[in-house]
Amino acid sequence: MKNLLIIYHSKGGKNQRMADAVKAGADHPDIEDVAVRFLRAPDAADQDLLWADGIIFGTPENFGYMSGALKDFFDRTFYEVEGKVDATPFCIFIGAGNDGQGALMSIRRICKGYNFKEIQEPLIVVGDLGDDDLTRCEELGMGMAAGLEAGIF
Ligand SMILES: Cc1cc2nc3c(=O)[nH]c(=O)nc-3n(C[C@H](O)[C@H](O)[C@H](O)COP(=O)(O)O)c2cc1C
Repeated sequence: MKNLLIIYHSKGGKNQRMADAVKAGADHPDIEDVAVRFLRAPDAADQDLLWADGIIFGTPENFGYMSGALKDFFDRTFYEVEGKVDATPFCIFIGAGNDGQGALMSIRRICKGYNFKEIQEPLIVVGDLGDDDLTRCEELGMGMAAGLEAGIF
């Protein structure tokens, strides 16, 4: 059994819908040996990182950075897990207004500090969410879960 952690923040609902779609993909019935833990960033803690074999981070871009709630999660957990989560695979989704690059860069920089390993291209949705975007979110979640189950990452 592998463990997949999805941590996200949403204020206006867009990233919530993206996160729900990511979770739906990770929960695909063909993937039987992956447990999914689905948490808003304020509800997540260091023990969740220690539990996880893979992580998906989701956030809006706020002021050219990840959301404060996700940054707070990193602030609360770094020293607690340092050296215990090396090479944990992760990927990122971002629902942004402009280009999401500030959020992406900031998450990547911090994940380098944890020594996490990015294993899929980030999914960034700018502007309104369409059905095709939600399909890509599902695929992100499914790809991560399937890769963990198969031992690819
Ligand atoms: C306070 C605030 C700051 C924002 N700053 C940015 C920004 O720097 N770059 C950007 O692309 N979008 C920015 N946005 C837009 C949000 O990223 C965008 O509306 C996003 O879809 C919100 O996601 P949510 O509905 O999940 O909260 C900002 C929104 C808010 C509320």
